[in-house]
Amino acid sequence: MIAPITINEVGLRDGLQNQPRLVPTAEKLALLDALRAAGLRHFEATSFVSPKAVPQMADAAALYAALPQDEATEYAALVPNRRGYDRARAAGARAVAVVLSCTETMNQRNINMTLAQARRVSAEVMQQARADGLIGRAYLAVAFHCPFEGPVDPAVVRALAAEMIGAGAREIIIADTSGAADPLHVARLFDLLIGEHGAAMLSGHFHDTKGLALANCFAALERGVTKFDASIGGLGGCPFAPGAAGNLATEDLVNMLETAGYETGIDLDGLAAAVTVAEGCVGRELGGRWIAWRRSQAARRQSRAAS
Ligand code: COA
Ligand code: ZN
Repeated sequence: MIAPITINEVGLRDGLQNQPRLVPTAEKLALLDALRAAGLRHFEATSFVSPKAVPQMADAAALYAALPQDEATEYAALVPNRRGYDRARAAGARAVAVVLSCTETMNQRNINMTLAQARRVSAEVMQQARADGLIGRAYLAVAFHCPFEGPVDPAVVRALAAEMIGAGAREIIIADTSGAADPLHVARLFDLLIGEHGAAMLSGHFHDTKGLALANCFAALERGVTKFDASIGGLGGCPFAPGAAGNLATEDLVNMLETAGYETGIDLDGLAAAVTVAEGCVGRELGGRWIAWRRSQAARRQSRAAS
């Protein structure tokens, strides 16, 4: 039997964080409603970061307070430091994710810490989450290639993964922040990490900068990875990683998985509706290949009906 796949929707955080329009909390909640209606149950809802660094996330606590709660839905919050962790916990977060970049420069640009500081702070947050009974996850950002330092040595990723797991991380999210990875690269890194920690400890976060995100997911999927991040309409990109384009579009990933016989529990019609809501939030057209195809089909049907 093919294992069910868990998709962690990151549109509300990674997707919105660099959008020039400040999206009101009510609109973020409307987008969340549309995503839940499509069947998504795992969300990275926001980040508790400095509002000066990322103004879009200034409403993190207000958003958290308004999240619709049910047993089956999990909301995670990204936290860059202890202050962010404390804010997230006070807001009621039950899952937090730290973001530890694999290179010196990326940590400095993203969270104003050296690699050594970021390791220490991330480990402390993971330990605290474990002690408090929260789910702790660690993003290993720029795990393949850094926009400032170039190719990343898999041995570094391996060491950081082991360190975070030792500190209490329940999952390691391997992030191709700039969208520079290719499927062979992904296969090699995941083989290395799966050999040490097992596929269930790992998740993939791929940006679609060069159109390789789906192929990269498939490479990880073939190795037994069952958890992936994706962003509705392909919304997103890290404001601190030059050249990082949007995330893998959730609807493209669901379409590929369902077509290949994997179970996601997510409805593509519902995702199409959610793309439209996301477009309203950012004021421009979104979407990967699947939505373009779907819209062209609908336009063709309409013109046939009109003629
Ligand atoms: N939440 C809210 N405010 C925070 C905070 C947090 N988690 N951490 C620090 N701050 C505030 C401080 O209170 C201080 O406020 P003040 O200027 O009003 O006194 C200010 O931010 C600077 O604090 P400092 O500890 O010196 O942080 P910094 O300037 O070195 O910035 C980060 C470090 C991590 C807070 C900042 O770089 C950041 O938020 N980065 C987020 C990056 C991000 O979201 N990237 C995309 C996701 S991968
Ligand atoms: Zn990302």
